[in-house]
Amino acid sequence: MTKFFYQTELDDFKATAHWLALRGWSEAAGGNMSIRLDCQDSSLADLPEDDHIKLPVDVPYLAGKAVLLTGSGTRAREIGVDPLPHIGLYKISEDGRHYGWVAGNNNPSMELPAHFAIHNTLERHRPEDKAVLHTHPVSLIALCHMPEFNNGFNNAKTISDKILSMQSEARLILPEGIGFVKHELPGSLELGLKSALELKRHHLVLWQYHGLLATGETLAGAFDKVEVLEKSAQIYWQVLVAGLDPKGIKKAEIKHTLKAFGRLERYFPD
Ligand code: 13P
Ligand code: ZN
Repeated sequence: MTKFFYQTELDDFKATAHWLALRGWSEAAGGNMSIRLDCQDSSLADLPEDDHIKLPVDVPYLAGKAVLLTGSGTRAREIGVDPLPHIGLYKISEDGRHYGWVAGNNNPSMELPAHFAIHNTLERHRPEDKAVLHTHPVSLIALCHMPEFNNGFNNAKTISDKILSMQSEARLILPEGIGFVKHELPGSLELGLKSALELKRHHLVLWQYHGLLATGETLAGAFDKVEVLEKSAQIYWQVLVAGLDPKGIKKAEIKHTLKAFGRLERYFPD
């Protein structure tokens, strides 16, 4: 295996995978992660034409950039111990239409189309977000089976308003709420493109019956947001299981809190 050395990023993969495994959100080989690099590394300068693999979608904003991506079938509980064998380094060609494997694991996650489509959107709209994390949190996936959140009518808003009203600081972390993508084939380009669209405005997208997609400046930062949303969902379920109606914090209170912290302009209640 060719070696590469991006210690800060490897540490981020390692620590995040460790916590994903501890939380039980990335069972078996569930979930995947990537980090976009700025690619000043001269060893990554050119991709030989022979190594070009056609991308399922053009990614012009990634032209010449590189991405670290977990391998397909890799386990969070093992990445959390030793990340190096489980992460591959990929370079995007200068025309933004091809990519090639450079080093490390060379069997990329089946969600490569989603990761690349999302990084392309992030590079354009939110370049500081370099990390993309996909995982399978229990309480959030369970929400997808509730008729209340599954009526096809603006699920993103219904879930955001209800779940982020369960705890007084949740909406402060996610004032825009979350995005939602209806069930799509895992690994499909459609899943990637629809997520990329949602991520223009949101940092989190719930994949119906599948899991969550999060972005952040680092994987640890993306993980923070997953924790906040999943905890709010856990509170929702606990109140329900106690036989009570999880009504949540009133909209006026939510607005008051957001205003006090200068985040009201990121909240779109209607
Ligand atoms: P990979 O192991 O191919 O990354 O797939 C895991 C997954 O969760 C797909 O959505
Ligand atoms: Zn998945």
